[in-house]
Amino acid sequence: MSANKEAWGSRVGLILAMAGNAVGLGNFLRFPVQAVQNGGGAFILPYIISFIIMGIPLLWTEWTIGRYGGRFGNHTTPFILNAMGRNSFWKYFGVFGIFTNIAIAAYYCYIESWTMAYVIHSIMQTFTGMSQEEVAAYFGTYVELSKSTTGIPYEAVWFYLICLVLNTYILSRGLAGGVEKVAKIGMPLLILFGIMLAVRAFTLGDQGAYEGCTDCNSFLGLNFLWEPQYTSLKDPKVWLAAATQIFFTLSLGMGSIHCYASYVKKKDDIALNSLASGWMNEFVEVVLGASIVIPIAVGYLGLDWVLQNAGFGMAFQTMPFLFSKWGAVFGTLAGVAWFGLLFFAGITSSLAMGTPWVSFMEDEFDFSRKKAAWSFGLITLIVGLPTVFFFQEGVLDEYDYWASSISLMLFALAESILLGWVFGINKAWDELHQGADVQLFSGFKFIMKYITPVMLLAILLGALFTPLNNDWQKAFKEGWELDASSIVGKITNKGITVNRSYFADYFESENTGKVEDINLEAKTVTIAGKTYSFGKDDRLLVSLGAEVQKGDKIAEGSFVNNIFYIDASRLLLVLLFLFISYLVYKASKRREMRI
Ligand code: PHE
Repeated sequence: MSANKEAWGSRVGLILAMAGNAVGLGNFLRFPVQAVQNGGGAFILPYIISFIIMGIPLLWTEWTIGRYGGRFGNHTTPFILNAMGRNSFWKYFGVFGIFTNIAIAAYYCYIESWTMAYVIHSIMQTFTGMSQEEVAAYFGTYVELSKSTTGIPYEAVWFYLICLVLNTYILSRGLAGGVEKVAKIGMPLLILFGIMLAVRAFTLGDQGAYEGCTDCNSFLGLNFLWEPQYTSLKDPKVWLAAATQIFFTLSLGMGSIHCYASYVKKKDDIALNSLASGWMNEFVEVVLGASIVIPIAVGYLGLDWVLQNAGFGMAFQTMPFLFSKWGAVFGTLAGVAWFGLLFFAGITSSLAMGTPWVSFMEDEFDFSRKKAAWSFGLITLIVGLPTVFFFQEGVLDEYDYWASSISLMLFALAESILLGWVFGINKAWDELHQGADVQLFSGFKFIMKYITPVMLLAILLGALFTPLNNDWQKAFKEGWELDASSIVGKITNKGITVNRSYFADYFESENTGKVEDINLEAKTVTIAGKTYSFGKDDRLLVSLGAEVQKGDKIAEGSFVNNIFYIDASRLLLVLLFLFISYLVYKASKRREMRI
């Protein structure tokens, strides 16, 4: 359909690019946090099972769909799926395969830019001499744009811009000349850095324990992650978390694997290549991802501390401090290795998110590679800036929720039905084996047709209607009340019980307890451990020592509540979806004209 003649340079390059696509911040930041939050060893079994019955089959599904589409000159999901399903429903459903990538890229590049900034600050020795609290607070200041950490105003915004420009530039160099080259350099370096840090974690033991700490031992951390607990097999919440992680880490259900695979030649193997990149991702995630942040943090701060503080920012809030204990030279090296590793992991993934848009603009609107790449930079900037400016208001998390859990599942369910049922599993199996270097175990045919979609459906329904407190037994017996974390609960903002209007003259307390601290100058109030800060024109309504109930008014002034930003960011995502749908419509019209 288009004059787009791009292709991968070599087999090694393809595998590394695909592995680079998969290996990302998800492996090093998301996986350990998910594992810790879901009970450590309790998480591992559902995770491995999800890899086998959903991860591997869907890798084959996506590589097959992608290479098949490429044969007809289609490189993005709207037209790839349309040609396979012969129905224009699929064309518009395929919008997800571009949309999800842009939505994730928008906030993912922001996190990627943190890693870049932290490499530079490690080299500049910014963290030398800081206490753990100071390192943690540093991160808070970095993402709060009104304050500046280095004296450069809006530092976080600048790093975000630099990061986007870098991505755009590499994308503009093409697949073999840009993406593949970066993967060839970045992937080996990342593995090398990862092994270095993991070895340190393995040899740390209890050497880092502070006085009086009884659970500061890196082996405790490893044990916690690896001791399997069979009871979790019955817990839908753990299943949902494990399956979501498998999707996120393998980049499944996003459209980016289809796009990369569409540039694989018809006679080239996909059966084995897909496995190679998938296993490489799992090695990096399970062996390296699990052996760095958690064991090192447990070694210095204790298991209890890690369990309480596990979160996305944890690696930024702790690692620089822990490294500083390794002395100036080795500490700096470790900082550069760790944040450098994250940066390489991140950039090879964000390039994968950019490729569908770039290919779409090249194929359908005859954009040059360069112009297409810059248009990606621009649209990502527009969608991404709210995550930078309103990070504290929860915009980034909101994007993450919709783009990286829900839309993935939905897309994966649809494509597995498309391949297994509409296209036909036998035809699909033959297609997958075209040019294959191996004959795959045919039991997977059954799994791909029945088990994978049924599991996906079950998980999606579970996420839609999660019952209160995740208590399924009670819900079945005593009636269904939705949990705030269910999709339906999310849409209705069930979890937000106070400060529910967009704009308000009063601010209500989000928790119950005693006013522990008041600072009239800084306009901060601490209620039962939670600190609220207000603007200088706001008036505080509570006094020291007072008992405050959740929902009580604690300040007067003019407020824009988080719920406003959350709904606004949803609206923006919907607009993005509609905009891409419109482009697909336009592209179809152009295709009709060409015939
Ligand atoms: N798999 C990547 C990670 O683990 C994330 C990703 C999402 C990559 C979307 C490509 C597309 O971080």
